[in-house]
Amino acid sequence: MNHNRKLLIVFFLVLIQPATIISAQSLTRTVTSFDSEWRFVQSDQQNAFETGFDDKTWRMLDLPHDWSIEGTVTQNAPTGGSGGYLPAGIGWYRKHFTVKKGDLKMNHLILFDGVYMNSDVWINGKHLGNYPFGYNSFWYNLDEHLRAGDNVIAVRVDNSKQPASRWYSGSGIYRHVWLIKVNKVHIPQWGIYITTPQVTEKSGPVSAEIRVENSSPSLQKVTVISYITGNKGYTSAESQSVFQIQPGQEGKAKNVINVPDPELWSVEKPSMYSYVTKVLVDGKPVDEVITPFGIRSINYDVGKGFFLNGKSLKMNGVCLHHDGGCVGAAVPLEVWERRLMILKEMGCNAIRTAHNPVAPEFLDLCDKMGFLVMNEIFDEWKRGKVKYGYNIYFDQWAEKDVVSFIHRDRNHPSVVMWSAGNEIREQPVEGGEKVLQKMLDMFHAEDPTRPVTVGCDNIAADDNPARLEFLSLLDIVGYNYVDRWHERRELFFSIDRHDHPDWKMVGTESVSNGGLRGDYNFGRDTSRFNPSYNSRMIRAEQLWKFVAVHPYVIGDFMWTGIDYLGEAFWPTKSASSGVIDLCGFPKDGYYFYQSQWIDKPVLHLFPHWNLEGREGRIIPVLAYTNCDAVELFVNGKSFGEKRLEFPRQGNSGSWNRYEFPQKNATTADLHLAWDVPYEPGSVKAVGRKNGKIVCTEIIETTGKPAAIRLTADRNQLTADNQDVIHVKIEVVDDKGRVVPAADNMIQYKITGSGKLLGLDNGNPADHEPYNSGKRKVFNGLGLAIIQAGKIPGKVTLTALSEGMKDVSIDISVTM
Ligand code: GAL
Repeated sequence: MNHNRKLLIVFFLVLIQPATIISAQSLTRTVTSFDSEWRFVQSDQQNAFETGFDDKTWRMLDLPHDWSIEGTVTQNAPTGGSGGYLPAGIGWYRKHFTVKKGDLKMNHLILFDGVYMNSDVWINGKHLGNYPFGYNSFWYNLDEHLRAGDNVIAVRVDNSKQPASRWYSGSGIYRHVWLIKVNKVHIPQWGIYITTPQVTEKSGPVSAEIRVENSSPSLQKVTVISYITGNKGYTSAESQSVFQIQPGQEGKAKNVINVPDPELWSVEKPSMYSYVTKVLVDGKPVDEVITPFGIRSINYDVGKGFFLNGKSLKMNGVCLHHDGGCVGAAVPLEVWERRLMILKEMGCNAIRTAHNPVAPEFLDLCDKMGFLVMNEIFDEWKRGKVKYGYNIYFDQWAEKDVVSFIHRDRNHPSVVMWSAGNEIREQPVEGGEKVLQKMLDMFHAEDPTRPVTVGCDNIAADDNPARLEFLSLLDIVGYNYVDRWHERRELFFSIDRHDHPDWKMVGTESVSNGGLRGDYNFGRDTSRFNPSYNSRMIRAEQLWKFVAVHPYVIGDFMWTGIDYLGEAFWPTKSASSGVIDLCGFPKDGYYFYQSQWIDKPVLHLFPHWNLEGREGRIIPVLAYTNCDAVELFVNGKSFGEKRLEFPRQGNSGSWNRYEFPQKNATTADLHLAWDVPYEPGSVKAVGRKNGKIVCTEIIETTGKPAAIRLTADRNQLTADNQDVIHVKIEVVDDKGRVVPAADNMIQYKITGSGKLLGLDNGNPADHEPYNSGKRKVFNGLGLAIIQAGKIPGKVTLTALSEGMKDVSIDISVTM
């Protein structure tokens, strides 16, 4: 990799009109998906890097591929609870490809978006390099060893040293791979850096640093032309730089373009532009790169928190790990798209990428869908947490990894903050600040436009508290579990706000309102009553009240938006801290955040009402709502109206002038509760705002499981071997109502142009292999993910279960 090339300086810069000189069709650069037709074997092999090695018996597959998720959950797996008791080990991949003689004059790069972990790559038997970090993207130049005709790439992935992670990592080439063909004079990988330093609604000056590499044997005079395109055919003026580059060297253009009356990127309206860069030598186009970007300003005020485009915005954040449930670490785009949509509907506007670089397309989605991202790189620096964690590579690799992480991600408007690490063990130790300072220097040098935080869990700890020398260096102090120690349980950030008025503060991680979806410890064991469902939310409510009314708190990122594989204790294989389960189904806690984060009326009632055997016993019925008042009826009989009020009413204007209408709150909580004697039937809640009914919610005692219902989130797939759809599986009674505690085993058959990529049910203790083709539903629900084949036609999923009629769903597969 060429990190150390010297930069030559720009010679001059001209602005010219209009932007139509060069055709957008010039075939100067080809970026080809390199995902298809790899051979794979899940074991170590002698000499498998050699060109002539016989790989015919190996399995043929398309990337992305995660072999851990194909395995079986076993209690003595070397990954342990951290890795979800799934296998790791060593695997080999090989791919043959053809290069035309005429193309040998071009430069060829292979780009890996992510390989977990410790990969070695060979081209035609020649070693290109070793890359330990499993989450970063990296690339190699292939040219020296490329030949006309057949070529072979071999990749050895070594995830055998365990434990290497505190959560499920996956194993293999679990992200996309690309082959990039460019001319000798070209823009290097991640060679464009776009910033929008002084944005207003009237003007958006867009500044770009564009590196150009000359790998030809002679001096080259290059012209770098850039312009911007946007919605409705918008095309900007052009900016142009001309300079010379010595052979084997780089030059840099600095082009500035003004976009008048820009459509600003925001969370409500994430408008994107394209930055088009063309490189010309002797008037002939030699390279072209189109970079999506957004025009937006960010500002962090010590007293007033975060501002996007000059408007104050609280970060309603969630932490997310990188796995996608039953698809493991190889997560199709549509899986993240669906999950992000569900988070968006909750009112979430910000994501912390715990605790590693994410797939590039994840950030593309955040750009497109309007999420703010706290982009985090590490879980450990020099001082480790797990035996084979990143600490063993830190000294040799951290600088390179940080630089490529920033270069890859710094054009995303969604990325508004960097996090250099999570719960870093250097926080409390003398000298820890020196390591932090080095990290900060790297971030600031590569991207001076965004602040850097670290998720600190030791602030005010009794043993080994984080040192002031460490915390004071941070651009923004990140608090993991701010309410952890002593009076901070009630006072949260306010103690440090008083002591360090110059600190900017964000809740990098905090308790959420997770648990098991649909599980109230009812039904299974009637002798046990553990209704933590009516108390679990209190911590989250108190924290949110503080965050919401203290503008200096930039926001809060709760742990976690969605359940994740690993960090589990036998017999569970996943962590249930999410407010959304592994299938993407909301839990009750989801509606707590929704009731606080969105304006549309929210009214969610729980638990369920299938409580046979509990007749006459008192059951707490709860509601999350943003209505002024909710009245509860059981079988038509009112149990009274309850009201919550947040923030509390006060005098605004003059003495004794209360804001109108008063809500006459019945609780200081952010949920409502009624104690109701159980009788089968229906519980109905009626929500009012300003005296008008705005929503009703009913839970009913259902009959026994009678049928399966399948609902797909789309009815069409693209025949590209990648596209996926989600099918929701519901076990319903004879009236079509989901049976809350149903756990029927369902067998699936798939025919036609597609495959069953995964089955899940959200139950952390279900050990059924993800690819067995059968699975129980969990508390009435299940999920199937279908991936398109290559041939147009249709794919049919059939669900079969004892005592119920088979049901099928057809999805068309089109080009
Ligand atoms: C935090 C940590 C997370 C996760 C969580 C579990 O302290 O940062 O990665 O381990 O605890 O509750």
